[in-house]
Amino acid sequence: MIEVKGLSKSYGQTKAVDGVDLSIKKGELFGLLGPNGSGKTTIIKMLTGQIKPTSGTLKVHGINVLEDPLRVRELVGIIPEQETPPSFLTAEEYLHFVAKVRKMEHYEKVCDKWFEFFDFEDQKTSLCKDLSRGTRQKLMFAQAFLHEPELAIIDEPLINLDPVMQRKVKDFLRGYVEDGGTIFISTHILEIAKEICTNIGIIYRGKLIHTGRFDDPELQGKNFEDFFLELVSRWKGVSKEILKEPPKGVSALA
Ligand SMILES: Nc1ncnc2c1ncn2[C@@H]1O[C@H](COP(=O)(O)OP(=O)(O)OP(=O)(O)O)[C@@H](O)[C@H]1O
Ligand SMILES: [Mg+2]
Repeated sequence: MIEVKGLSKSYGQTKAVDGVDLSIKKGELFGLLGPNGSGKTTIIKMLTGQIKPTSGTLKVHGINVLEDPLRVRELVGIIPEQETPPSFLTAEEYLHFVAKVRKMEHYEKVCDKWFEFFDFEDQKTSLCKDLSRGTRQKLMFAQAFLHEPELAIIDEPLINLDPVMQRKVKDFLRGYVEDGGTIFISTHILEIAKEICTNIGIIYRGKLIHTGRFDDPELQGKNFEDFFLELVSRWKGVSKEILKEPPKGVSALA
């Protein structure tokens, strides 16, 4: 579903993504893990044809993203980072709008199912600007899955959702891949990856420093957080930087 080779993106002197190779197969729930600023969102933007790589090749659904980004965006369900639905539409209008863009027929019932699933039927007719952040994220989630894409790419799927909704979404994502779908998520929340991902990639300063399955013997019986920090700190010996003490005075504020 996703084939990436030698993918790089530079912004001036900053190498946001640096020579990434990645292969994701149908039925995988792949989690791209990495600290803030490590290049997760930049990879997602390139996969979905929103920005062009400095070098490298990308195929999504077998389509060369550089040649036909529109086709890729037609097929794939996408939840970008920190995106919100248009302020001037109601929640229902927004989902109907997306359904029309997706060329769906008889979409009203499908949309209603999403309002029911996320338990905000009573806010269907509210303007998006008046929805809470979490509810707007629910709407973003619904728009991505409305047309039942074979592949969904989600930047931080559970951000802003309460624990009950997080559980629902995790169960939904697991079920989706069990039914043959493929999901790519980015996250820096290790627990999420541990609970739902079949495969992971760990990115640090633009470089993919580990890929594997969660059932790898290397990971068995290990605390994943320790594994992650150990791996990142082994990489160029940066442990002090990651684990450094808060500046003086911060604890006094607690
Ligand atoms: N448009 C841009 N111009 C300049 N630098 C950028 C731009 N977009 C991203 N970067 C830089 O690229 C690097 C990777 O950023 P990216 O947003 O991909 O990180 P991330 O892993 O998604 O982080 P987070 O967990 O905080 O979302 C960072 O150093 C960031 O400052
Ligand atoms: Mg990001």
